[in-house]
Amino acid sequence: MEDLQRLAARRLPRPVLDYIDGGADTELSLAGNAAAFERYRFTPRVLADVSVPDTTTTALGRPATLPLGLAPTGYTRMVNPAGEAAVAGAAAQAGIPYVLSTMATTSLEDLAALPAVAPADRWFQLYVWKDRGRTLDLVRRAADAGYRVLEVAVDTAVPGNRLRDLRNGFTIPPRLTASSLLDIGSKPGYWTRMLRAPDLEFANVSGGPAGYTIENIGSQFDPSLTWRELAELREAWNGKLLVKGPVGPADARRARELGADGVHLSNHGGRQLDRTVAPVDLVAGVRVAAGEDFTIVVDSGIRHGADIAVALAHGADLAMVGRPYLWALAAGGEAGVARLIELLASQFRRTMALLGVASAAELRRRGPELLAAGP
Ligand code: FNR
Repeated sequence: MEDLQRLAARRLPRPVLDYIDGGADTELSLAGNAAAFERYRFTPRVLADVSVPDTTTTALGRPATLPLGLAPTGYTRMVNPAGEAAVAGAAAQAGIPYVLSTMATTSLEDLAALPAVAPADRWFQLYVWKDRGRTLDLVRRAADAGYRVLEVAVDTAVPGNRLRDLRNGFTIPPRLTASSLLDIGSKPGYWTRMLRAPDLEFANVSGGPAGYTIENIGSQFDPSLTWRELAELREAWNGKLLVKGPVGPADARRARELGADGVHLSNHGGRQLDRTVAPVDLVAGVRVAAGEDFTIVVDSGIRHGADIAVALAHGADLAMVGRPYLWALAAGGEAGVARLIELLASQFRRTMALLGVASAAELRRRGPELLAAGP
């Protein structure tokens, strides 16, 4: 994983890399996410037959080859022109879900129409706009294009305070600024591609003037969003519905009562509220509060197959990654993302075997007895 990150750092200009890697404010959430996974230690079972490892699972009623998914990220073609199509293609090929962001640079219709992606399990992440017509239009379009799962993001009432982006004068699309000029010499290929990609625009929502800041974009999301709007979205969407954010046990129960099929526990990879609890530490409490047949997806800080095992042992059904696949995409396009999934899969398989569990289902079932608090 560190190698992929290093390769990405070699290819991307500093402001773009900072946009991907950075978190909000003092980046305590960001650092805490990875640290939370590193705190746990395994207590394996020995002499268990693990000759036939079964990593498969069921994600909201549909089979997946691994308890892993690719979380939504905005503006993916900025990382590599292959963009969302490459990420979704690698996920489809591997048989795991990919969540397309509202802020994607490939439209939800175009993505769904790709031969490699059309038959795959397609999820869509929704930002709720101040303009409610725009929100309902996105929901209708996702249904028409055959997306199966809708994830409503509830962690972006206001934009997170990303200091790296402010310092870099970061805009979307990225512009050459005094600070990015400093590393242009080492990244000529990137800027040549960017200058040749005038169509690099948000594809699901209409644009407006180029040169947005994160603040401009985030200010269009609705801060008055409440449970009432979630109930309305439940009415408007017939497919599976997940609530994405740092959802605690009481809120998870409420989401379930309103008809949500599950939660995607996330602190946006430390990009929104700083000092948020690490989402993996929310899993066990949410499982108890919301019950066994409620789907729990968790992301933020997953960097190794062993982290997927830790997430499942806490009671999660699916782990997701964000930044890792962006590094992989920068490093090697679709093949890079495929390599990342393969890497996580092999690490997860080896962890299962050495833990003495033969299947992802068993790992999830026996979870608590396989984990101990670390140093
Ligand atoms: C994100 N994330 C995100 N989430 C979302 O719901 N909609 C979005 O458009 C974006 N955009 C986005 C861009 C970038 C560059 C990153 C890194 C993240 C959050 C994402 O879905 C996920 O929650 C985190 O990335 C998970 O944490 P890790 O794996 O990056 O630590």
